[in-house]
Amino acid sequence: MGTTGRGPRSRPSWSTYRQSIGDRSGLFAALAAAWQPRRALYPGSYLDLAPSTAIPSVTYVDTDRRAARFFADPDAVAADLAGRTRPGAGAEIRFLHADYTAALPVADAAFDLLVSLYTGPAWDSCRRYLAPRGLFLANSSHGDAGLAALDPRLTLVAAVHHRGDAYRLDREELGTYLVPTAPAHADPDHIRRTGRGIAYTRSAFAYVFRLT
Ligand SMILES: C[S@@+](CC[C@H](N)C(=O)[O-])C[C@H]1O[C@@H](n2cnc3c(N)ncnc32)[C@H](O)[C@@H]1O
Repeated sequence: MGTTGRGPRSRPSWSTYRQSIGDRSGLFAALAAAWQPRRALYPGSYLDLAPSTAIPSVTYVDTDRRAARFFADPDAVAADLAGRTRPGAGAEIRFLHADYTAALPVADAAFDLLVSLYTGPAWDSCRRYLAPRGLFLANSSHGDAGLAALDPRLTLVAAVHHRGDAYRLDREELGTYLVPTAPAHADPDHIRRTGRGIAYTRSAFAYVFRLT
């Protein structure tokens, strides 16, 4: 006992998770440089603490108990963020151990950035929390980018590309993105039914939409 790797150091944390997903700090730095979001909601975050390196207030939501344990340990969170935050970022970090498809204890329209990466679709359940003119960062793995592309309240404002941990926003030629290879699949009911994204003629890691 004691040498089985079960000590605090071996607990899942953002630094252990980064070893599998990489460091997305550059993505949130690019978002912050372009639009300066102040309050973000991240349903299905798991251990991805990257938004707090660039955004002052982030509310993370997940049903996973490893994520709950990590976020309940302020020392672990602070240690993971140490030396990685932009000025003003990381001031408020909240974790809701909750199912985001149920009502969350947050006010409607309280956030200016909603993040959905590799979870969801979360748009149907969580769009109420996004303020007018707020941003929705989504990828297509579970269908959120597809739902967003078909939602007339949203406008595509950037495509996100990355090479390793280096992220960049493409804000030009936006009409070349989100063109379905199978137009019949570009149907919200189809996407909700399958819980999967659809294929596009030009792909990106993720997309940024703005709410009207
Ligand atoms: C594949 S992980 C992605 C984590 C992170 N967003 C990323 O990009 O690396 C999906 C996460 O969403 C969480 N999740 C899925 N459905 C959820 C729900 N209805 N409510 C809260 N969390 C959920 C899972 O527990 C899991 O931690």
